[in-house]
Amino acid sequence: MTSLLLRGRTLTFRRWPESLDDTAAYAYEEDGAVLIRGGRILAAGPFADIRAKAGEGVRTVDHRPNLILPGFIDCHAHYPQVEVIASYGAELLDWLNRYTFPAEAKFVDAQHARRMARLFLDELIRHGTTSVAAYCSVHRQSAEAFFAEAASRDMLTVAGKVMMDRNAPAAVCDTPQSAYDDTRALIAEWHGRGRQHYAITPRFAITSSPGQMEMAGALCRAFPDLHVQTHLSENHAEIAFTRELYPWARDYTDVYEHYGLLGPRALFGHCIHLSEREADALSQSGSVAVFCPTSNLFLGSGLFDYQRYRRRGHPLRIATATDVGGGTNYSMLRTMDEAYKVIALNGEKLNPLQSFWQLTRGNAEALSLADRIGTLEPGTDADITVLDARATPVLRTRMETVGSLAEELFLLQTLGDDRAVAEVYVAGKPAKSDMASTGAA
Ligand code: GUN
Ligand code: ZN
Repeated sequence: MTSLLLRGRTLTFRRWPESLDDTAAYAYEEDGAVLIRGGRILAAGPFADIRAKAGEGVRTVDHRPNLILPGFIDCHAHYPQVEVIASYGAELLDWLNRYTFPAEAKFVDAQHARRMARLFLDELIRHGTTSVAAYCSVHRQSAEAFFAEAASRDMLTVAGKVMMDRNAPAAVCDTPQSAYDDTRALIAEWHGRGRQHYAITPRFAITSSPGQMEMAGALCRAFPDLHVQTHLSENHAEIAFTRELYPWARDYTDVYEHYGLLGPRALFGHCIHLSEREADALSQSGSVAVFCPTSNLFLGSGLFDYQRYRRRGHPLRIATATDVGGGTNYSMLRTMDEAYKVIALNGEKLNPLQSFWQLTRGNAEALSLADRIGTLEPGTDADITVLDARATPVLRTRMETVGSLAEELFLLQTLGDDRAVAEVYVAGKPAKSDMASTGAA
């Protein structure tokens, strides 16, 4: 088995950095290296030590002076919305009806689904994202196309076909029974195959009948190890409509609670307008609130109160995500830049160490997958992103006055995009340069 040694400035997080001085929260090597074998990280640390471990004849790629980090993780995105991103002038429910459902209807065509899956995953790689929790369309073949494309790249993904049986055009609706049968078939075919994970995916309470929500709950009980993903408390009109559809529920969160969807593997997109009771229900069940800043700003949905959620007696588990195509960028750097601004509008700050913890280890922990991704720990999968803080004239000039790692990270977050992503490794194999050379870019 051949080995690969990556040399550069390595950075990996051990835990949440309490402050900019919290150096124990991360491991940073000015002259560092990562040793990879068989798609896994064998060792990471000072170059001299790792070089000695590697033995003779190891192939070395010298990324100096660039930063070597764990690959970024996007915890909520819609691959059938490649053609929806940047659609003008609507709030959530109107945006879904006007742009999103018609675009998703096209995924009945497996060839279209395959093409979009390829384009979507190419964009993730180009932007340094090596894992994603993705929504597919309602069509079983859309999930098949997505998993097949992810598996061919050996990318770790969490994904599922959306279940939706009302309040949407017939072309994007299933039934409680067909959603159940298709989901079971997809779980049997794809969950645990290579690096693929299936997520039970009722789109949101508005587009699922009580009968379908029952079915989703039954799937969660039958497959307790699977992720569940849905949307919660994104927009005021959405909340009001949900209250009309489920008048017996104490609040929006109670709908999902009632059907048994809360838990440590449950990912709730948005969670902007939660009451204290709802935040308690999420935190006590170990559920995850997924912060999608570019989407929340673009659709005018509201300001996710990241620091308040973290400070609660029972802190919420939080992930971050692009939410493409409600979100406006594939880049997790752009996403954390907008997260910083949303948090600033709430009168608080997120320091750059915390940001980079979040988009690597933090998001891996939110997916309960930190034993596989999100760090440079030995034994984990070799998903790696290499960042160049001098990739553009503006970055290069600004770097002349940068004096610390934290300042450099903040610069990358504030001004960086796909141009700052010098290389990406997926399961130990170069993926970004490979894409360019095969013309797939
Ligand atoms: N709520 C239900 N579906 C969607 C979707 O596709 N995008 C967003 N942002 N919110 C949703
Ligand atoms: Zn979404």
